[in-house]
Amino acid sequence: MTNNRHQSDVLIIGSGASGLSLALQLAGYAHVTVLSKAALKEGATFYAQGGVSAVLDTEDSIESHISDTIKAGNGLCHRDIVEFVVENGKESIKWLIDVGVNFTRLPESQGQEYHLHREGGHSHRRVIHAADTTGQAIENTLENRVRAHQNIELFEFHTSLDLLIHANRCVGAYVYDQENDRIKVFQAKFTALATGGAGKVYLYTSNPDICTGDGIAMAWRAGCKIANMEFIQFHPTCLYHQEVKSFLISEALRGEDAKLLLPDGERFMQKFDPREELAPRDIVARAIDHEMKRLGSDCVYLDISHREKDFITERFPAIYARCLQYGFDIAEQPVPVVPAAHYTCGGVVIDKRGRTDIEALYAIGEVSCSGLHGANRMASNSLLECVVFAHAAYKDIKLKLDRASPLVSVPKWDESQVTDSDEEVVVSHNWDEIRRFMWDYVGIVRTNKRLQRAKHRIELLQDEIHEYYGNFRITNDLIELRNLSLVANLIIESALQRKESRGLHYTLDYPAPETAKPAGDTTLQRKEDKS
Ligand code: FAD
Ligand code: SIN
Repeated sequence: MTNNRHQSDVLIIGSGASGLSLALQLAGYAHVTVLSKAALKEGATFYAQGGVSAVLDTEDSIESHISDTIKAGNGLCHRDIVEFVVENGKESIKWLIDVGVNFTRLPESQGQEYHLHREGGHSHRRVIHAADTTGQAIENTLENRVRAHQNIELFEFHTSLDLLIHANRCVGAYVYDQENDRIKVFQAKFTALATGGAGKVYLYTSNPDICTGDGIAMAWRAGCKIANMEFIQFHPTCLYHQEVKSFLISEALRGEDAKLLLPDGERFMQKFDPREELAPRDIVARAIDHEMKRLGSDCVYLDISHREKDFITERFPAIYARCLQYGFDIAEQPVPVVPAAHYTCGGVVIDKRGRTDIEALYAIGEVSCSGLHGANRMASNSLLECVVFAHAAYKDIKLKLDRASPLVSVPKWDESQVTDSDEEVVVSHNWDEIRRFMWDYVGIVRTNKRLQRAKHRIELLQDEIHEYYGNFRITNDLIELRNLSLVANLIIESALQRKESRGLHYTLDYPAPETAKPAGDTTLQRKEDKS
């Protein structure tokens, strides 16, 4: 690093399953830089519980995984992408095992090497896991590997704020170094966005704080196509407790026969879908929302107490311990749960190699919209997508490394027109306001009127944030707020454009899917010069 400039062959923005998988594979051939805006492990990957889906059991089949994914995606999955991902499932799991991920094994006598969970939408057990902390097992393993690799340079607490585009080619990014409070230029022949999702747009979310949609916002400002942002997935079962910000109770519990109950102990999922508790997430979350509103109750309950305590503590040790910490012994009693924003199905449009529409710019993992998830992601297909697309992007970049364009000169960040803010409160206030009205107006059940209200508010806030951004020195919170407001706008705009209910987008004004014309993606691309 000289003069706040850094150069490498490949710049990877994000250090979750997708970013670190790509870094490790490329490091044998290229000098790789990885940025993380918090500590390296902090991201959705670390918190993943249920596991990774793939066809690993002889009784299961590729066709069945494909067909379940497409059914869950409600007519919007791209079949070629689903086939591509599912067909690469076994190989991706093998790669994770080879780099050292210690998935839960079965005793040899049961004839199958690894234990598999079943989750909503899957018609077989096909989710490989490391007890109920699969994400930790994956992230820790990848982290140890990248830290030991001499061709990988890691920059923690470095927030990318905008991509550097030169003649429709991405040549790196402007990056905010939080510790030294300065903007640096990271130049690279290839750049990959692996920045995860945008759950923090909502007041209640299972996502960690880093999930502010930065990659989607940067790609939008750079001119990439963004698709299907209306499909925000709400996980049906997050622990309901005042002191807990975002603790998920894995769908794998329902895969092991946990039942959803109303406050009076009555079951209700049979009224909504013949698959009951194992229906896909859009259906289960909507059913819970419906029952909570009907009864005016703050939560519903999840009950696995009919299973043996040893079974529960062995399969779900972290969930058992965490619930106990808050006074719920799940082996003895039902636990209160509510839906919360969990996964961003839409994102930066990519092809089968992870390429965006800007040359030398890739997007992989939750930041992307590959066509795999359609209108509703099936459980545990996300980590699979991260690994499959990391591999695809690695292969493409490797092929192009030798003939990549040389680095071009880029201007350094100009701070001459800005001053220190005397009104930091504006940032926190706007942040809270966005997350609250997104929850109230752009949540599980939508209407035109609520969406219009949200649109009006977000436009006012964006103007204010835009002006603030132009006048005051950058802070991490300001970068995130700017991105969060943009992503909120993209979600609202996409939701307004979809005049039907499909998958995760449900509106009382058009309660059924459109049948008169073929279902299609909602694709947005920046037209005006306003971020
Ligand atoms: P992340 O793991 O979220 O990593 C994003 C990275 O980008 C972080 O390193 C962050 O610091 C960095 N970053 C972001 N913005 C910037 C910026 N501006 N500058 C620099 N760095 C930046 N999926 C499954 O398939 N199975 C599961 O069991 C499962 N369980 C889940 C449980 C929870 C609680 C949650 C929240 C999600 C779960 N998911 C699961 C979804 C899955 O974990 C995520 O979709 C996946 O981990 C995303 O990986 P990623 O690499 O795309 O992003
Ligand atoms: C869970 O364990 O319920 C989360 C799985 C997922 O989001 O895919």
